[in-house]
Amino acid sequence: MKTCPAGPGVVDKDITTLYQMLEQLRRIQSEALDELSKVESLRELEFWRVRYLGKKSALIQILRSLATLPAEERPRTGMQANKVKNSLESGLREKEELLQQAVVAPHLDVQRLDVTLPGRPFPSGGLHPVTKALDEICSVFRNMGFQVVEGPEVEWEYYNFEALNIPQHHPARDRFATLWIDADGRKDSRLLRTHTSPMQIRFMERERPPIRMIAPGRVYRYEATDATHESVFFMVEGLAVDRSITMADLKGTLLEFCRCLFGDERQVRFRCDYFPFVEPGMEVAIQCLVCDGDGCRLCSHSGWIEILGAGMVHPDVLARVGIDPTVYSGFAFGLGVERIPMLRYGIDDIRLFYSNDLRFLKQF
Ligand code: DAH
Repeated sequence: MKTCPAGPGVVDKDITTLYQMLEQLRRIQSEALDELSKVESLRELEFWRVRYLGKKSALIQILRSLATLPAEERPRTGMQANKVKNSLESGLREKEELLQQAVVAPHLDVQRLDVTLPGRPFPSGGLHPVTKALDEICSVFRNMGFQVVEGPEVEWEYYNFEALNIPQHHPARDRFATLWIDADGRKDSRLLRTHTSPMQIRFMERERPPIRMIAPGRVYRYEATDATHESVFFMVEGLAVDRSITMADLKGTLLEFCRCLFGDERQVRFRCDYFPFVEPGMEVAIQCLVCDGDGCRLCSHSGWIEILGAGMVHPDVLARVGIDPTVYSGFAFGLGVERIPMLRYGIDDIRLFYSNDLRFLKQF
């Protein structure tokens, strides 16, 4: 491309024809705008202004010399020169605005960017409140050295009952309204596990002491649902087997668990209870979170809310999986997971967790 021989500051006296004049204007414009795009400060912008729009600039001189042009060349040249001048002036104003913005808010890009525009919402899912409770429970026990294992939801009668000291016709089977897959109650039948306790047996068949494990998972009961009962819900089983494990270990572990979940102040109560696979067995309750023990509807005016069953693993259970009960002892516990968020957040109907109403689920 040819450049203006005398430079942009001086009018080229040789330019006589209309064509050359228009060509020079075009070059001035493209050079000026090109230079303008490289300007990075108000100071540079002032130099640019003097160079391209100042009194001595080529453009202004052309405009001044219009009168000396032959009459037929004047209108076209005048119009073109004014167009160029307007475009340089508006470029100047825009640049000035941008640079001033950058001085006021230097962290913003020099580009035109409306930072007040709200961002486009990015729809992201969240964890289900029961999943969150499960994660929290697992992490508390993991910190105490327990490993997390999972097992089948379709279970053999043997693991769900027989191996846990609940033989056929044992009255404790009435506690578990069972969904059978094969013939009711018979040996070698399959069922939907009614609790996570079968994982105690499965784990001890596979592993030798020392054992510290928890087994979270879904369990099933053949029951009508109501505000406190679901036919499908979650439990977490716990098991520790080692030399000289005592009730003190069990109480200490569960106390720590309750402290982590419900805070240091919350009272914890241990009372005798019966489960065929532990001896002695117990029930653990915490002081009601709603009335702090004074008695209310939630705690049936007792001031306490039962949260789990536990006990020392029955020697027959240990012997059945080939662990010598004269050498080893252990404790076990099982807790219902939904109860925990229900107590914490005052949720009064367990069915809310599984009715898939986003207005409920989004709150957690
Ligand atoms: N499996 C029992 C239930 O579903 C809960 C339970 C009680 C588990 C005592 C245990 C235990 O491990 O020791 O009601």
